[in-house]
Amino acid sequence: MIIGVLNGPNLNLLGTREPTIYGTATLADIMTHLEGVANALGVQLRSAQSNSEGTLIDTLHAWRGEVDGVVVNAGAYTHTSLALRDAFSATAIPFVEVHLSNIHAREPERRHSMLASASIGMVCGLGADGYEYALRGLIRALQSLPSRQLPPVRG
Ligand code: DQA
Repeated sequence: MIIGVLNGPNLNLLGTREPTIYGTATLADIMTHLEGVANALGVQLRSAQSNSEGTLIDTLHAWRGEVDGVVVNAGAYTHTSLALRDAFSATAIPFVEVHLSNIHAREPERRHSMLASASIGMVCGLGADGYEYALRGLIRALQSLPSRQLPPVRG
């Protein structure tokens, strides 16, 4: 099994970016930890980060047929990007959304995810650990459910 880990805008600044909200782990720290978890589970990872919406979409297109699922933190595009949700629908890649902060306990404009309705599920508010939980949950869902039982990838 191959899982893609996709990170959106400003997540390259983790570690120094508003640490009281996002913690002090860098994206490299998070990916190193995830690689260890994936190795232990016999899963391969692909990873990408971009500050550009188009590049995130291009990455999903490139991963079509290569990855079995994606863990995504789309950053602020979570709240705005119908195009990114369309890319998940178009590629039919199952995904789990992750957010370091609890987006439902923040400003009103962060409480809605454009991606959530097409996702298997979401982990939020558990900091960097949430990436591991999202990865484990995605793998479990992919392993235990026949594909027809996964939520339809829809808008
Ligand atoms: C975030 C939450 C978003 O609202 C924000 O724009 C981010 C990070 C999180 O991981 O908590 O960039 O996705």
